[in-house]
Parts: sequence; C-alpha cells; structure tokens
Amino acid sequence: MIYLGYFLLLFCGLTRVMASYPIWWSLAVGHQYTSLGTQPILCSSIPGLVPKQLRFCRNYVEIMPSVAEGVKIGIQECQHQFRGRRWNCTTINDNLAIFGPVLDKATRESAFVHAIASAGVAFAVTRACSEGSATICGCDTQRKGPPGEGWKWGGCSEDVEFGSMVSREFADARENRPDARSAMNRQNNEAGRVSITEHMYLKCKCHGLSGSCEVKTCWWSQPDFRVIGDYIKDKYDSASEMMVEKHRESRGWVETLRPKYTFFKPPTETDLVYYESSPNFCEPNPDTGSFGTRDRLCNMTSHGIDGCDLLCCGRGHNTQTEKRKEKCHCIFHWCCYVRCQECTRVYDVHICK
Ligand SMILES: *[C@@H]1O[C@H](CO)[C@@H](O)[C@H](O)[C@H]1NC(C)=O
Ligand SMILES: *[C@@H]1O[C@H](CO)[C@@H](O)[C@H](O)[C@H]1NC(C)=O
Repeated sequence: MIYLGYFLLLFCGLTRVMASYPIWWSLAVGHQYTSLGTQPILCSSIPGLVPKQLRFCRNYVEIMPSVAEGVKIGIQECQHQFRGRRWNCTTINDNLAIFGPVLDKATRESAFVHAIASAGVAFAVTRACSEGSATICGCDTQRKGPPGEGWKWGGCSEDVEFGSMVSREFADARENRPDARSAMNRQNNEAGRVSITEHMYLKCKCHGLSGSCEVKTCWWSQPDFRVIGDYIKDKYDSASEMMVEKHRESRGWVETLRPKYTFFKPPTETDLVYYESSPNFCEPNPDTGSFGTRDRLCNMTSHGIDGCDLLCCGRGHNTQTEKRKEKCHCIFHWCCYVRCQECTRVYDVHICK
C-alpha cells in the first residue's frame, strides 16, 4: 500500500508537468470532492500543488473546502454558459487533468476557465467567511459609508478583499514563470476576481410589523454567481488576441503579451486575453481534446452556435421523437391545492450526424 501511494504521488508529479493548467482543480470533481467535509484534508494528497500552495493549504486548511467549492461552482457555471456550444466545458472525472488537453493551448476557452475558476474561489471563500463557517475571516467592517435615506448599515457585509486575496495567493501561486502562458493566466485570473468586486451591491432587508419596512438594514453583498458567469462570458466573446514578445532581462528571457491588433483598444484588467486560436471542435481529436459534436442535441430554430447548422458543422442532423411525461389539466381546488393529470407529449429532438 505504501509503495502504491508513493507511486501515485510520483505519477501526480509527472502529470503536473504535462498540463498547462492547474491539476489541483481535480479537487472539485470526483471522489476527492465528495469526501471534503467528511474527512480532514490532507494537503499532501492534493495533486499538483507547488510548495507555496502546500504551505498555504497547511496554514489555512479550514478554508480549503471553500477553495474546492469555488472551483466546482466555476466549472458548473462554465458548463451552463457553454451548454449549447461545440466545446461545452466537459470534464473528465477520472483524470487529474480534468479538462484533458483542451486547455493546454492558450485559447479563449482557457482564458474563460481560468477567469471563472479564480472568480469561483474568491466567491466561495468570501461566502464562507460571511456565513461564519471559517474562523480566520468574517464580515467586512470597513466598507461602511454614511447610512442612506431610510436605511442603516446592518448584517454582514461580504469581505470580497479576503476572498480575492485567497484566490490570488492560492490560484496564482504557480503563475510566476517568465513565460507567456503564465502572463496570460495571471491576467485572466485577475479579470475573474475583479468581476466580483465590480458587481458588489447593496442588499437590504426590511424589519417591522407584518413585513412593513419601518427599519431597513443593508449590507454589501456579492451578486448571484450567474451574474459573474454572464459577465465573464461577455468578456470571452470580446477577448483580446495577443502576441508573444521575448525580452532579454537580467533574470534571463522573459515573455510578455502585446495586443495583436493596434486598432482595437488595449485590454484593461477586466478583459480576457489569449494568443492561440481554438480548434473548431467539430471532429473528435485526442490531441486537441475535442470530443466532436456527433450525437449532440441541436436547436432546429436557432441560427446561433447551438443551431443545427453550426453545431453539427454542416454534417446535417437526424430527427427523432421523444416522449415526455408532463403535468397537465391542472385544477385548483378550494382551498388550497392543485391537482394535475399526467400527459405524454411527443417532442422532436434533433441530433447531429
Ligand atoms: C457536452 O458534450 C459532451 C461531448 O460531446 C456530450 O457527451 C454531452 O452530452 C454534452 N453536454 C450537454 C449538456 O450538451
Ligand atoms: C432554440 O432556439 C430558439 C431561437 O433562438 C429559442 O427561442 C429556443 O428557446 C431554443 N430552444 C431550446 C430548447 O433551447
């Protein structure tokens, strides 16, 4: 058993070298995730941590479940945002490199996943702090201005600075290499975190007899994570294409990124950047990690990327009928319940050839 464990660790070490994105994201899928919360976290068993991350894990072990949760909500949001697209953010649960080779290239997709995962970590840690489930952090007591018209400060303002700090220290720990990919990951990770800070809002609650609003207390809150997902998806659509430049500095060769097209406005800290083009994801290809789009459901009436033309890459589609049971003929009975019947409806479903 000991030898097997040693062998696995060695194996993980090798895998880390092979993926250009964090292997520790695998914390968010598979059995590692399901055992979080029931078993103490063994930092040394998390695959792919660099020494700084291992130290961080040991020092702040109580927030590691939130770090994993953050990557998880990031991936779920990615799968929501990309659900009708050729590449739909599929993860491979029995592989430490959970996205396969897809994110090895410095593409828009890589930019999106880095941003959403680092936003997810900041978000989940911030939420855990305000809910009191971690003891080293809590509410933001600084960000209190004067009270507003008809309301006063109360409740727990979420400390997004702390969550962002954790995301920056942990998620960016391996991004200190002098190469272009590291520069790209740093920019996209930060863009993800900034998107949360930009969407903080004043959330209020009324107190008073029978729901009246005699006293209203307000606090700073993070938005719904869907808001962050929609925003970063817009950033994906308008991501800036960059060029890699090499400079000779005293510490050796350093790669930096420069906008490829000077007639577009240069990226700001909220923008996503990439410098390699994406494959078209039409056919399965183990080298690029494309699964192809055969057997995917497409939308007959859409002219967008989820429409049968684009999603099926011009190969055409088959139409099948599918029976679904639904509630129907619902009747409201006085008072107070609704009784429904179950009907079978037939739908057409379109599947890429
Ligand atoms: C995502 O793509 C994979 C691989 O093509 C497919 O198996 C899966 O059903 C797709 N998921 C959704 C929600 O369309
Ligand atoms: C298909 O596309 C149309 C037009 O874009 C849209 O209104 C509809 O909701 C889509 N259907 C599904 C099942 O996504």
